[in-house]
Amino acid sequence: MALQLDARQRAMLEEMHVRVWWPQEAPAPQAAAEPAPAPTVVPPAAPVAAPAVAEPPPARPAVRAPAPSPAPAAWADAVATTAQDVRAAAIAGMDWPALQQAVAGCQACKLCGTRRNTVFGVGPTLADAAAPPRVDWLIVGEAPGEQEDLRGEPFVGQAGKLLDNMLRAVHVSRHGEAAEPQRAAFIVNVLKCRPPGNRNPELDEVAQCEPFLKRQIALLQPKIILAVGRFAVQSLLAASVPDVQTTPLGRLRGKVYRYEGVPVVVSYHPAYLLRSLPEKAKAWADLCLAKETLKAS
Ligand code: URA
Repeated sequence: MALQLDARQRAMLEEMHVRVWWPQEAPAPQAAAEPAPAPTVVPPAAPVAAPAVAEPPPARPAVRAPAPSPAPAAWADAVATTAQDVRAAAIAGMDWPALQQAVAGCQACKLCGTRRNTVFGVGPTLADAAAPPRVDWLIVGEAPGEQEDLRGEPFVGQAGKLLDNMLRAVHVSRHGEAAEPQRAAFIVNVLKCRPPGNRNPELDEVAQCEPFLKRQIALLQPKIILAVGRFAVQSLLAASVPDVQTTPLGRLRGKVYRYEGVPVVVSYHPAYLLRSLPEKAKAWADLCLAKETLKAS
């Protein structure tokens, strides 16, 4: 049995120049057919149940029943996991321009059908667009909203204005000087496409987008990450904080975590701060913790 990918998954891998074998059109049956090509995915051997009582030897040679195939759902899961691993490995090897292109053309989840623009991220513009900008700060939000989807830039609505003001208060900006990385921030989201109606990101959408965020961080090499809001925090700390999915964000604040070696500070989402003004003082404390962590690095 070969790796079976649907048309969208094949197109996605081809776009990324990932070569995977998949079955050709079945040839017309011939008298002496060639053996089938070697499989790329081998199903686990089906367990053989021992008979409860010893049977007498068969009078005639037994005709072997074909081994039961694994349940279709198990196959679908295995194939999906394999395709996702292949894709993640391809993304992990991309340079900055290839990564930007891959995000722009991504069709890995259903959000590609409703987005107007992908939202890669924003930071200081460099003369050399082929290289990632030099920034000490990385801000990670949740997902583009309506304005972001229209403009292709993260945090351009009301929440974005608040974020910019907060960053300005610690002398940091998305348009920071390229020569002064300590004053420059790159801003990204966990999801690069807008969920319709600004609904919460779904698990499969986060899983498909995660390799993009991981590669952005590997290429940008920020010195501090400020994770704003539940989805950013859960994505970045999933591997290091076992109960992160069930711990309220407020209880995760005030500590420095690590993502791939980079310090991470947890804070509230600016959209939440717009609705809950008393929490602004806590967000300010988070920003100060991030700044101190950066200074000490
Ligand atoms: N909220 C986010 O998390 N990201 C944006 O880009 C805009 C709003």
